[in-house]
Amino acid sequence: MRAVVLVGGFGTRLRPLTNQIPKPMLPIGHRPMIERLVNRLGRGGVTEVVLALGFKPEPFMEAFPGGRCGDVKLTYAVEPAPLDTGGAIKFAANEAGIDSTFVVANGDVLTDLDVGELVAAHRRREAEATLHLIGVEDPSAFGVVALGDSDRITDFVEKPAPGTEPSNLINAGTYVFEPSVLDRIPDNERVSIERSTFPLLVEAGCLYGHATQDYWIDAGRPDLYRAANLDLLVGGRVNDHCEAVSRTATVDAAAIILNSIIGDHAVVAPGARIVDSVLLPGAHVGSAATVEASLVMGRVGEGARVDASMVGADGVVADGAVLTAGTVPEVPAS
Ligand code: GTP
Repeated sequence: MRAVVLVGGFGTRLRPLTNQIPKPMLPIGHRPMIERLVNRLGRGGVTEVVLALGFKPEPFMEAFPGGRCGDVKLTYAVEPAPLDTGGAIKFAANEAGIDSTFVVANGDVLTDLDVGELVAAHRRREAEATLHLIGVEDPSAFGVVALGDSDRITDFVEKPAPGTEPSNLINAGTYVFEPSVLDRIPDNERVSIERSTFPLLVEAGCLYGHATQDYWIDAGRPDLYRAANLDLLVGGRVNDHCEAVSRTATVDAAAIILNSIIGDHAVVAPGARIVDSVLLPGAHVGSAATVEASLVMGRVGEGARVDASMVGADGVVADGAVLTAGTVPEVPAS
């Protein structure tokens, strides 16, 4: 079975981390997010993934030069201009010549979903499209569904106003489509699968849901990207975990690391304190500096204090400076 994986977005919410590296190439527990996703699709029976690329396609091609990720074959479809989620699926499926049932996944979703079970549920219902659904406490930031008899979706509302959600079941970003879904998406146009195509499928009565209680996280938000990493420390996830400190990192014996991940080639100097944070590959934290609840790719100077913040690859927090709930470099309002 083939899958289209959407990885062409700008990743604006994770700026400045995504200034140099596209979101799905950022590490989760020392491995690129996309590698974890493709491996999981492979375990669920996917043999070939078409990466729907747009923003910064090169890092993906460089990371997988042989066109393979583990046992899964990779091909690339690069959009000439951003086509949004629906337009990107149509473009990638056309490029790859997809003409049978296929899987679609957002490139920033971390989950233990068994994709084989999603496909089996789709076939049982004889659906045109089946969405993986997850129950959450506050669904208003997501696409929310109402489920009718036999798991048929009777309403799909993208980001409803708080208090107006039809249920607490949200679109979890993994789908199974019949190729006929592609006929509902115009060629080479910006189309949102969530705002345009799903409502059309609801109207036609052929959109179904498959709700599970699997681990699930949308790693596109800074707090959730950090959580997706820290959940892999011992005790967080049932099926998966990672070492806190990469073997290639240099951490002084007089540094304190609490509930944090220290990435490849990161350096932590004597007396530094890293708490509830992720140091990404190449980060440098000076002596006696404190980093708390933050994501750091760049340099934190001696004695500096960084709290609830993001420091990009070319970001520098000066010696002794304090950064609270900020970004370095600053991210212009979009
Ligand atoms: P934000 O800018 O922070 O919202 O992140 P994003 O650009 O990744 O957007 P969002 O998380 O809403 O997108 C969901 C998935 O679709 C992600 O995996 C994106 O990479 C992908 N995506 C969004 N827009 C496009 C597009 O125009 N083309 C392609 N190929 N993928 C897209």
